Amino acid sequence: MNLRHLLAARLDAAFARAGAAGAPAIVAPAARPEFGDYQANGAMAAAKRLGVKPRELAQRVIDSADLDGLAHAAVTGPGFISLAIADEWLAAALAGPLLRPLAAPPRVVVDYSHPNLAKEMQVHHLRSTIIGDAVARVLEALGCEVLRQNHVGDWGTGFGRLVAHLVDCGEDSEQLADLERFYTEASARFQADTAFADRARQVVVRLQRGDVETVARWRRYIDISMTHCQAVYDALGVGLRPEHVRGESAYNDDLPGVVEDLRAKGLLTESDGALCVFLDQFRGKDGKVTPIIVRKSDGGYLYHSTDLAALRYRAETLRAARVLYIVDARQALHFRQLFALAAAADYGAGVSLEHHPFGTMLGADNRPFKTREGAGMRLLDLLDEAKARARALVAEKNPRLSAGEMDAIAQAVGIGAVKYADLSKNRTSDYAFDWNAMLSFDGNTAPYLQYAYARIQSIFDKGGLDAAALAGKPTISAPEEHALALRLARFQETVEQVAATAMPHHLCAHLHELATAFSRFYENCPVLDGEHRASRLLLCRRTALALRIGLRLLGIETVPRM
Ligand code: ARG
Repeated sequence: MNLRHLLAARLDAAFARAGAAGAPAIVAPAARPEFGDYQANGAMAAAKRLGVKPRELAQRVIDSADLDGLAHAAVTGPGFISLAIADEWLAAALAGPLLRPLAAPPRVVVDYSHPNLAKEMQVHHLRSTIIGDAVARVLEALGCEVLRQNHVGDWGTGFGRLVAHLVDCGEDSEQLADLERFYTEASARFQADTAFADRARQVVVRLQRGDVETVARWRRYIDISMTHCQAVYDALGVGLRPEHVRGESAYNDDLPGVVEDLRAKGLLTESDGALCVFLDQFRGKDGKVTPIIVRKSDGGYLYHSTDLAALRYRAETLRAARVLYIVDARQALHFRQLFALAAAADYGAGVSLEHHPFGTMLGADNRPFKTREGAGMRLLDLLDEAKARARALVAEKNPRLSAGEMDAIAQAVGIGAVKYADLSKNRTSDYAFDWNAMLSFDGNTAPYLQYAYARIQSIFDKGGLDAAALAGKPTISAPEEHALALRLARFQETVEQVAATAMPHHLCAHLHELATAFSRFYENCPVLDGEHRASRLLLCRRTALALRIGLRLLGIETVPRM
């Protein structure tokens, strides 16, 4: 049980003893330091319900609460309970593991990255990849079995012209180095050249019929495109590998069955030859129910049908308890419809189906960020630029580092900065891509946290100490020690919060607070000289560990020196 849940459990019980059974204590980190470490707000609503004074009820709760050795409680404001965690409790907690697995970790599918393989990977796929990777790491760290599903767009009529173009260019063509151009050329030919367009259409027909040679060519194109994606994954250091790919085409054979099933369940309506599902809650501006098309009049299937088949597979075959879709906010309606369809068809009953949307990445001009303007930048070039900029900064900050060290730092800081800039914002809003802000050594940035980590390592170096050899329990007494130990004790609940909400910015904010608390501690509490040396070194070591593990959960590396 994490600290916050522990406090809530103790106070919930106290509310019952104080005559307010069922009242939730509503415990959260205190909004302001004068309200203590945590604050419980439940007495306000409970008192109103019972017709008693909130401050009196709050006091009764405190009197009957079992907080011995855990926290000191006091009534504050109109009836809040403020809680200060006992120094002894914090010290003991710091001697235990930093992170414990959940009591009953669920099996979770994380659907992320999922580029459209017709084109080169786009910025919103980069966001999905970065966020999904962090969420998957967090769930795994809590003991969940995580099934990564890269639902790539590898099927559809658009592939006809790409395969036809590939046949003409040959597989060794240099043009394949730039898939965005390849796509543009294929589209241009499709528009301008009727003979080519006819061949492209025939490719589609043969593909759908499963013609062996055509399928092999299509596979070839998919492999080439997937190689481009894998290069981005490798440059980013995310754990996506070929075995996580289960694209739209993987569900082709299931589609007729899904549609038959919808028919058997009485959900299908035919409209102009297309098969549709009408669900009452989806209406257009005119108030009329809008159809969800599952099969077009030409027999082709759509995004919804594939996703429904994928959902059923994840629920029934993979037996996931949660399915997390880390997908662009612009697809919100699609997922509401998908989940409603699933409910109507009775797929995934009892499975938590969650669309976790994210906003658009904006450029300096506040318009959607483009990796390419004309002959502009590819995602890989963007990552290279991040490394180059980081290297220049580090060389300026610490010119005495060896070239090898600088390369390693440039990698960790450059890639870390790009990831952290994304992860540290509430993902539901848009955010502006800004090199200077993300590479700043001040503020809520990756370099700030990486530098904080390296600084702690230098304390050990200076003292000629082996951090791993330190043992025992620290003593907490100075207020800066208390503040730091409290942040360290909150690591578990923060990570659990990220797992529950798929919002990595909670962990970023936490690590930033932790690093700030460490700075105050280090300024005010002598570590290497003085009587508290052993205890304070333990606090240093624990902080370094939390920073390293916390950053790693975000997919960001640390370096021993910067
Ligand atoms: N490939 C799609 C795109 O590029 C995203 C797929 C998201 N996942 C899903 N199960 N629908 O927009």
